[in-house]
Amino acid sequence: MKYQDVTKTPGENSYFLVFNIVDKQKHRDQLVSFCNNLSGLIRSMRTRFPALETSCVMGFGADAWESLFPQLAKPQQLTPFKEIKGSRHTAVSTPGDLFFHIRALNVSACYELASIISQQLAGMVTHVDEVHGFRYMDGRSIIGFVDGTENPEMEDERVDYAVIGDEDEQFAGGSYAFVQKYIHDMSAWQSLSVEEQEKVIGRHKFNDVELTDEQKIPSSHNVVTNIKDENGDDLKIVRANMPFSNPSKNEYGTYFIGYARYFSTTLRMLESMFLGSENGATDELLKYSTAVTGTLFFVPSPSMLDDIE
Ligand code: HEM
Repeated sequence: MKYQDVTKTPGENSYFLVFNIVDKQKHRDQLVSFCNNLSGLIRSMRTRFPALETSCVMGFGADAWESLFPQLAKPQQLTPFKEIKGSRHTAVSTPGDLFFHIRALNVSACYELASIISQQLAGMVTHVDEVHGFRYMDGRSIIGFVDGTENPEMEDERVDYAVIGDEDEQFAGGSYAFVQKYIHDMSAWQSLSVEEQEKVIGRHKFNDVELTDEQKIPSSHNVVTNIKDENGDDLKIVRANMPFSNPSKNEYGTYFIGYARYFSTTLRMLESMFLGSENGATDELLKYSTAVTGTLFFVPSPSMLDDIE
């Protein structure tokens, strides 16, 4: 089964682009041919720069999918993301018709592909969001902790958690990409001691070793996001978060992206973070991190994107 690059590691550089379509009916034919040609654009980048490992994932918001492809069914778990409003924290819902997650070893390859895509879509879309993420030190989030350790590791496991299978046959090989742009209150975060920060995350800061259950608190991020199925087995998604920052503007952020076979898994994690986990605790990390966007996209299989009409 072929799937877009939804199981890849976060990489060195990433561009996240979100667009809205100006007029879905008027531009439909051009947009469909753009979709059919995207794999060619990616192939061209890989041919031009074989060492740069350029990749690009394309996704569609629920409204866009329905309007552009009314002849197709809708993926079972594709709906517009509904805001999650807890008593303390809110996971906002923000619009987005088209999504691109571009990764490469060199930032110039991200730029090149993003600029070609933007030029080809010009006149048909409006800009919603653009974030340039970078690998920070040894894979740390901008708040200084290594991010991604508990992701599924082996490719077959990553596929199992991130890629739709026979349960939604028509969309097998697809995935659900959920994105949120978080802004961190860095001065509040830095006012904590390292020990306090470690309790927020549930791991040691310097060497990434997990805290013991006794050292963690019920609201530790890795307690709240650790969810299980009815047999007590961990439910996972494939996260490819990237830090971004404009230090001179005092902007420090995390672009959260989780690829999932079932959006319901990501949703359970979000509900646990924002509404409260089984033990009632909301995520301690949210005291220092505000979600300013939140959008769900469906990522079709490459063959569906190539052949879609
Ligand atoms: C774990 C950072 C948002 C799901 C972690 C870890 C860090 C981290 C440093 C520990 C290392 C690791 O296992 O990856 C962040 C930051 C976020 C964020 C900076 C945004 C401000 C989210 C969101 C979700 C999520 C929105 C889910 C929807 C998880 C999961 C784990 C995790 C499932 C592993 C938990 C376990 O140990 O079982 N995150 N995260 N994170 N995060 Fe996040």
